[in-house]
Amino acid sequence: MSDETSGVSEAEIAVHWGEESYFHPPASFSAQANLQDKNIRDRFSLDNFPQCFEEFADLLTWDRRWDKVLDTSDAPFFKWFVGGRLNASYNCIDRHLEKHSNKTAIHFVPEPEHEAIQHMTYRELWVRVNEFAALLRDFAGVKQGDRITIHMPMVPELPIAMLACARLGAIHSVVFAGFSGKAAADRIVDSESKLLITMDSYYRSGALLDHKEKADIAYEDSKNQGHAVDKVLVFERYPGRYSSPTPIVEGRDIIVNDLLKDFRGQRVDPVSVKSEDPLFLMYTSGSTGRPKGAQHGTGGYLSYAAWTSKNVQDIHPEDVYWCMADIGWITGHSYIVYGPLALGASSIIYEGTPTYPDAGRPWRVAEELGVTIFHTSPTAIRALRKAGGGNPEKYNYHFKHMTTVGEPIEPDVWKWYYDVIGKKEAVIVDTWWQTETGGFLITTMPAIDPMKPGSAGPAMPGIHPVIYDEDGNEVPPGSNKAGNICIRNPWPGMFQTIWKDPDRFVSTYFAKYNKDPKSTDWRDWPYMAGDGAMQAADGYYRILGRIDDVINVAGHRLGTKELESAALTVPEVAESAVVAAKDDVKGIMPEIYVSLQPNVEPTEELRKRISDAIAKEIGPIAKPRAVWIVPDLPKTRSGKIMRRILAAISNDNNDVGDVTTLSNPETVDLIRKLHTK
Ligand code: WTA
Repeated sequence: MSDETSGVSEAEIAVHWGEESYFHPPASFSAQANLQDKNIRDRFSLDNFPQCFEEFADLLTWDRRWDKVLDTSDAPFFKWFVGGRLNASYNCIDRHLEKHSNKTAIHFVPEPEHEAIQHMTYRELWVRVNEFAALLRDFAGVKQGDRITIHMPMVPELPIAMLACARLGAIHSVVFAGFSGKAAADRIVDSESKLLITMDSYYRSGALLDHKEKADIAYEDSKNQGHAVDKVLVFERYPGRYSSPTPIVEGRDIIVNDLLKDFRGQRVDPVSVKSEDPLFLMYTSGSTGRPKGAQHGTGGYLSYAAWTSKNVQDIHPEDVYWCMADIGWITGHSYIVYGPLALGASSIIYEGTPTYPDAGRPWRVAEELGVTIFHTSPTAIRALRKAGGGNPEKYNYHFKHMTTVGEPIEPDVWKWYYDVIGKKEAVIVDTWWQTETGGFLITTMPAIDPMKPGSAGPAMPGIHPVIYDEDGNEVPPGSNKAGNICIRNPWPGMFQTIWKDPDRFVSTYFAKYNKDPKSTDWRDWPYMAGDGAMQAADGYYRILGRIDDVINVAGHRLGTKELESAALTVPEVAESAVVAAKDDVKGIMPEIYVSLQPNVEPTEELRKRISDAIAKEIGPIAKPRAVWIVPDLPKTRSGKIMRRILAAISNDNNDVGDVTTLSNPETVDLIRKLHTK
């Protein structure tokens, strides 16, 4: 948490834009929407909690119905739909075969435009998941409860691998492909994964990237940290044609596409797991340098992903749904894979960057596939706008529904999204949620709530937010004051714990506003999200950004401490401090300030090495916008680095605040001069 002397959070540098007027959902949208019940929030009032959430679970097929909706006996480790049994892979595939065997489950759009789009039916998905599950079970010895790290790009083999794990009751941990081999290693070690599943290469911005080299680094580094995977399973981007310059290591690496031939036609019965058995881990950044594995259960999570996909994303059987997020993040898990497939929808997987080869690419895809629902981030919208927009009006597509997620969206960017991309025909939902929450928490319900640019909206039915000040007093709506947004009640999509770190789960998310650590009453355990927020008089929430040492860079969640320790792997660096700086396209970008060891000269080469070290440790997405080599970092007399002052300088804010308590106030002007040069 930031305090007076150390940091300045995203929430504090947020621009406070004014109140906007409402936009109403088009009548044509409301008339066809899955959810038209204006009284929905009454049905989901706290008086009806937790039974109201049975409606979510009823969207799934259970092998055994639950006995208890919510078990709070070990609060805040809540258990949903206890006694129930089900399988996520069965729910996303098998149960659709009777009616939708020949329907497209996944449209795969390769980045190179001359490569044909591939359409995989539910039947084919079923065949491929079964064969790969058989390989995992019979070749690799995977059993229920094993953890499997999957470090793969945006290709259909990624959900195939996830669903094959789920079929066996194994817990997948997908690592974003843009992350480094080192980042994958840390996650392999923490989860004690049995296998690493990867791919030889993939396309990004026109280049065929060598991905296999990261698997070698991940293997070696995790082994050095004391945990080696049994095998590295490598899918080929072009089946039958290994496409990486990094050689295969005999005995350790297996080319999946070769081995799959032995499993042709094999079927694997889905393992019926308990509702609260873990489905996956998703590592995310927090205040410390160590990423935490958010553990999601099966029944609660899948119910929540399915209900929100149906009623917030408004997916109907005939829709073609395109979420442009990456499956390596929670958005892709819930809203490319699990939610849409649980509903039997057709979901698009796009391999590459939205602006490749030009900003018209998304609109050509939308036209070709007849996309009706589009889902992306403010960063992608800003990037498309900056690249000229790609002339959506020239293409014959019509979105009925669009989503924005991941960062606050400025009202003028929202309006550009609405006017230009949505052609003034589409309803927009600005959805606020987190890795930890499994699905949307704050959003308008698209057919019944008006939209307000720059505000995420009221809460989801069944979600009861509250904004607390530092002392635990409620900050009332319309007071124009910001505070810490919390949720009063548990909900089915909520994560279960942090993998192997239950204490951190309690201390990070609950301790601050819990008054009785022994209580088994859910009312005593409001969930603290870690975001600053304000509530307008009409009840709509505006999310300001993180209140802790986390920054959302282009919608990717990174811990400033992770970047700081990455910089310290360069031996010449003595100290480092990362601050959040506002950016026109990416929303927020990190800037890093470093001081050097004695007698080391600041050079361009060193600056580059620091930036490269961050890319190597974490991934290129974490590269700072600037590396400032300074004589000394501003510090208090007790030696705390004053990141607040650095943040003011990085955000061109002349008011650096009180510097009299510094032990080295003269550094402030020096740094400012460097910065303006
Ligand atoms: C931010 C991504 C404003 C927020 C789903 C949150 C948002 C963090 C919004 C979680 C939104 C997400 N408006 N800010 N609509 N959605 N955020 O875990 O700071 O990658 O805490 O999950 O993204 O990022 P995460």
